[in-house]
Amino acid sequence: MRILFIGDVMGRSGREALEAYLPGLRRRYDVDVVIVNAENAAHGRGPTAKICKELFSLGVDCITGGDHIWDQREILSYIHGEKRLLRPLNFPKDSPGQGSYHHRLADGRTVLIVHVVGRYGMKPVDDPFAAAEALSRANPLGGAIHALFVDAHMEMTSEKTAFGHFMDGKASAVLGSHTHVPTADARILPGGTAYQSDVGMTGDYDSVIGSKKEEPIQRFTRHMTLGHFVPAEGPGTLCGAVVETDDRTGRARAIVPVREGGVLSESLPAL
Ligand SMILES: [Fe+2]
Ligand SMILES: [Fe+2]
Repeated sequence: MRILFIGDVMGRSGREALEAYLPGLRRRYDVDVVIVNAENAAHGRGPTAKICKELFSLGVDCITGGDHIWDQREILSYIHGEKRLLRPLNFPKDSPGQGSYHHRLADGRTVLIVHVVGRYGMKPVDDPFAAAEALSRANPLGGAIHALFVDAHMEMTSEKTAFGHFMDGKASAVLGSHTHVPTADARILPGGTAYQSDVGMTGDYDSVIGSKKEEPIQRFTRHMTLGHFVPAEGPGTLCGAVVETDDRTGRARAIVPVREGGVLSESLPAL
């Protein structure tokens, strides 16, 4: 099974890059499943119902909402009727929505998609390690599911790497999001789990992690907040990774990072 995961779609630049490059990537890599983190899709603040519908109409199979999932109030009711939109699994138990989704392909194969957030440099949440482990124990690789994918939405590379190794052999892939910067550590871990600390943002990189540069720079230099973060509006780069898994064992065979468009160097390696 070939899974394409696309990192944090940021504002209009991110949405336009996704629309422009997703069809070509699907063809190039013969992708079976598309998962997109959309926590910044609506002008930097969460997804809206309209944006979710647009993403699904582009062929996205599952959307992860990150720590910004509730930024738009309408999502609280929308998520009740849309199981393909995930909030983090380790949010409080009474949170609306679900943190995992069983996706069935047209040919009958299934992939369990899981979304967790980290606990370091982020708001307090339940233990992502325990939450993911419990779910993987109930859905072991090589059992009824053909693949288990985790979007590890975390700030710290140390927490992400520890989580990746902790899930090694339990998940087909643990791919990171949230930091908006792609990392060069995509690899298969010893137990067969594809791993990358962060697949990067999908948006305009002539920015400070997706926002226009002026406001964040003056916050650092003057310790003053004069305005709001506003998404940068230049051409966006689509950032993600494609993972190929073995349908019988659920383990990963290969992972390639992909980048297309905008100011970042292009990366479209053969798989
Ligand atoms: Fe983000
Ligand atoms: Fe985030």
